[in-house]
Amino acid sequence: MKRTKIKILLSSPATGSDVLVKGWVRTKRGNKNIVFIALNDGSTIKNIQIVADASMFDDGLMRDITTGACLEVTGELVESQGQGQNVEIKAKTIVLYGKSDAESYPLQKKGHSMEFLREIAHLRPRTNTFGAVLRIRHSMAFAIHKYFNDKGFYYLHTPIITGSDAEGAGEMFHVTTFDLADVPKNKDGSVDYSGDFFGKPANLTVSGQLEGELGALAIGEIYTFGPTFRAENSNTPRHLAEFWMIEPEMAFYDIEDNMDLAEEFVKYLIRYALENCKDDLEFLNNMIDKGLLERLAFVLNNKFIRMTYTEAVKILEDSGRKWEYAVGWGRDLQAEHERYLVEEHFKCPVILTDYPKAIKAFYMKQNDDGKTVRAMDVLFPGIGEIIGGSQREEDYEKLLSRIRELKLPEKDLWWYLETRKFGTAPHSGFGLGFERFILFVTGMSNIRDVIPFPRTPKNAEF
Ligand code: 4AD
Ligand code: MG
Repeated sequence: MKRTKIKILLSSPATGSDVLVKGWVRTKRGNKNIVFIALNDGSTIKNIQIVADASMFDDGLMRDITTGACLEVTGELVESQGQGQNVEIKAKTIVLYGKSDAESYPLQKKGHSMEFLREIAHLRPRTNTFGAVLRIRHSMAFAIHKYFNDKGFYYLHTPIITGSDAEGAGEMFHVTTFDLADVPKNKDGSVDYSGDFFGKPANLTVSGQLEGELGALAIGEIYTFGPTFRAENSNTPRHLAEFWMIEPEMAFYDIEDNMDLAEEFVKYLIRYALENCKDDLEFLNNMIDKGLLERLAFVLNNKFIRMTYTEAVKILEDSGRKWEYAVGWGRDLQAEHERYLVEEHFKCPVILTDYPKAIKAFYMKQNDDGKTVRAMDVLFPGIGEIIGGSQREEDYEKLLSRIRELKLPEKDLWWYLETRKFGTAPHSGFGLGFERFILFVTGMSNIRDVIPFPRTPKNAEF
């Protein structure tokens, strides 16, 4: 007999025929005559109930069926007598694949704190919450590819190891094969990279954008979707050292087209989640965040507010609030400011544009005022910045002068500059932080709990 997944069985009628399931025991209860086992195989948040007549099975086997154990069960799929499910399995055979010591198995029935579960990230996918988060994460990754593919965008694989710092923020992890106890030096004491693997300094990418732009200026509309790395020492519920980013980049898009795409894209993903992840979202809405479904529907059904950074700063200054970080034109916005705008002032997602050039990256298109650039940040309730993007500077001279002004390594960017020499074009793009988006869709509150194995300062276990 072939195995059937529990998700399929739970949506089928009580056929009375034999089925075979495999999964992990969530709970066992009953008495010396009859035993009820809740079995889960990860295909759905729901368990299937196994009913075993104890007299048919070995006493030792029955004792060894404890929370966490892995079983194969065959039996008849019958109508359930109990509440909470339509069908259950009347067991005929049970094979114990793996015992789970009742004393030491850390996932007992009581709820555990998120902090504790992070310490057992190898087992937390077996909880309802993390099972739901992982299934939703998968569905969103799939929907991202579907959205872009259906729109005619190409998935471009940009390098993980690069020689450039796309964001110019210097938050890079170095990649080297040098023996760190014996690094070759030049006469002036600097590192001699000529003998290193790449013969020059290399790092893990902070963004695929610069290479993405090369793709857009050749095949039109591309997106990247891959891991990115930032060595920023931020211990917040919204920062990871390794996170996944989706970066579409489009030739012939201006900032308005860019904003339209960003809004359409995130709304598509939310709609996809509501339609395809119903059980998991309902669970999270009940157990984690009672306002989740309402918030998802709200964002889906409302047009995002669009305004300039300058207008937003005015609102923040006029708010009469005491801020932890000062507000003022030219200062970067902090999460507290972004969340005030979204959660209290507008009560709606907000797209801010035209930031001061000094607080944004070198590649953004310069406005005629000489002070601002065509940046756009999308701000979401509970999160703050979820998307960062811009129209790009397509003018060779302007781009070069900005690179020089900021003293960026001009010679390392020769290939990027050449795209502005040979058939340059207006183009735009943005980056959606995948984990920040998953935080929003799941209602989870810490970014460490929406990625299977989080990497944060002083933490690279598993
Ligand atoms: O605003 P960022 O730094 O923009 C870029 O990297 C551009 N190159 C994107 C582009 O235009 N193609 O990052 C984009 C998004 C942020 O809005 C945020 O959602 C997420 O990436 N992000 C992080 N997520 C988790 N942990 C971190 N340390 C993050 N840093 C940025
Ligand atoms: Mg940003």
